[in-house]
Amino acid sequence: MSEQQTESAETDDSIGEKLVELAKRRGYFFQSSGAYGGVGGFYTFGPQGAALKGNVEDAWRDRFAVAEGNMEIDAPTIMPEPVFEASGHLDGFDDMLVECPDCGESHRADHIVEDNTEYEDAESLPIPEVEEVIAEYELVCPNCGTGLAGQAVETFNLMFGTNIGPGDSQPGYLRPETAQGIFVEFPRLKEYARNQLPFGVTQIGRAYRNEISPRRSIIRTREFTQAELEFFIDPETDEPDLSAVADVEVRLYPASEQTAESAAQRAAEEASGDGEEPREGGEEIRTTIGDAVAEGVIASPWVAYFLGVAKRWYDAVGVDMDRFRFRQHLAGERAHYASDCWDAEGELDGNWIELAGFSDRGDYDLSKHAAHSEDRFTVFRQYDEPKTVERATVDPDMSYLGPEFGGDAQAVVSELETLAERDRAAFEGDNVTIELDGESHELPTEKTGFAVEEQTEAGEHIIPHVIEPSFGVDRLVYTVLHHAYREDEVDGEDRTYLELDPEVAPTFVGVFPLQNDDELEATANDIVADLRDAGLSVTYDDSGNIGRRYRRQDEVGTPFCVTVDYETLEEREAQRASDTASGDAPRAEAATVTVRERDTTAQKRLPVSELPEIMADLRAGELAFEDLDGKNES
Ligand code: GAP
Repeated sequence: MSEQQTESAETDDSIGEKLVELAKRRGYFFQSSGAYGGVGGFYTFGPQGAALKGNVEDAWRDRFAVAEGNMEIDAPTIMPEPVFEASGHLDGFDDMLVECPDCGESHRADHIVEDNTEYEDAESLPIPEVEEVIAEYELVCPNCGTGLAGQAVETFNLMFGTNIGPGDSQPGYLRPETAQGIFVEFPRLKEYARNQLPFGVTQIGRAYRNEISPRRSIIRTREFTQAELEFFIDPETDEPDLSAVADVEVRLYPASEQTAESAAQRAAEEASGDGEEPREGGEEIRTTIGDAVAEGVIASPWVAYFLGVAKRWYDAVGVDMDRFRFRQHLAGERAHYASDCWDAEGELDGNWIELAGFSDRGDYDLSKHAAHSEDRFTVFRQYDEPKTVERATVDPDMSYLGPEFGGDAQAVVSELETLAERDRAAFEGDNVTIELDGESHELPTEKTGFAVEEQTEAGEHIIPHVIEPSFGVDRLVYTVLHHAYREDEVDGEDRTYLELDPEVAPTFVGVFPLQNDDELEATANDIVADLRDAGLSVTYDDSGNIGRRYRRQDEVGTPFCVTVDYETLEEREAQRASDTASGDAPRAEAATVTVRERDTTAQKRLPVSELPEIMADLRAGELAFEDLDGKNES
């Protein structure tokens, strides 16, 4: 049973490819609808993948909903068109598409530019410039090699449309972000928060984007899971508890440094003509959250707070902190709703991949929904002391407005109210002019009941601002697996294993009977039942030799394996015999099993009776395997 482990040099280059193969073979993820040829951008999480994803989501919920005291909701994934008219997605949620004139394949024009030129952020370039770059660099169709110069680059809206109910009278869309499901419910959610800012609402759920070129397995798909927090604040009065994260060390790549890098790169390339010159400028900053705020590197203390919380959380779920950073969006890269955004990025096979975005959405979303709907998207801000203010009011003479304006009389009242608030001087003359449906109307000022009055006000209605940490779950699952991927040699054989964190590992313990033997199998099954009762995820495996069973669990990333052997049965019998001889009730406490740790392959014999408690403590991180007292096996 014992194993000898030697380290082998890791080659990171092709981990992605190996991982995708392992993921399919071991039930992590695979392209869906394979029986019908599969379709790009849709993946099924198999038994291991669904469990890992569930564990990641639970860990996210514990941290960002429960521990932060935020509310969680679960909104529909299809929403009616007016929601997306208001949110700006109908007009502005586009990617750049270029179609090959020969094979007809559609591609993301900005990706073709980024993949084949020194441009790193082609998404922020205007379309004519992208067309110029395609022509200048003579870029070709990745599918068939035909030149794309002269092809029109067009915008393509990423939302999946549908019809709600029969016919096409009520168009709807599959939500492109879970966030809108939170924003549209704000008028009710603020009531649950007792109208007190700040408060946060989370949602974990599916989002849909009709990506032009889905790629890199579950990194860019057309249906994926987001875990989003919309945190509503009063921008004038609310401040985060930065002391809770001030000492968190972070690696930051601010926009200013990226711009410096691009400028230096271009200058070097121009100077050398071969693009090979080392370049200067553009450095990541290693600092703490506290210092980054103090020095103005991160403008919003709220964004900084969530970067600090997220950094700790990513570390806890198994993202390698040596391959993790926060990068600020360049101005042209920001989404239509964001005034500032930092991405959490993980390094995979030499590329930085966006794992999450932390945006300052200001009052963009709530203002838009307020303007497009009938509901109130404000919260009452109480003043410390009541304030006496002058208010311009109107009290129009309806016996005049009615006959004069008929059905438009109420609209005239609204216009007069707005005008009084906006421009008191408009009421200084004998007549007041208002605009109604593009037409000017004059009416005598005396009929408006205009007055300026002193009023005592306890507070005012404000539109809250939103800070949004938005996590992609699928990309995180991929990153956790990628960063956990290991190769070494055990007993002279190559081994692949996933060094998954116990908190997220889909299976925590594998239990094996040493051989096909009724008594060994019955004892192993009893152990499985006890471990499951302790809340652990357990798999039972009796097929193939023990070495093969260990390798299977190593590849799945199962942290511990338990083997029941003849020593277990003998120890149990000896205990029972001695208990019977001494007149005690027969017990089985003395029986031990071999417990093997995945990463070191170290083995110890531990008492069966204590296994559930030991395993639960190992999973909770309250025990370390090397500190256990059991007899070491070599
Ligand atoms: N509500 C803000 C929002 O949706 P985003 O940057 O577009 O922001 C947030 O998306 C996260 O969702 C990304 O950081 C990424 O992890 C994930 N994501 C976005 N598009 C994706 C796709 N096509 N496939 C998989 N994950 C995606």
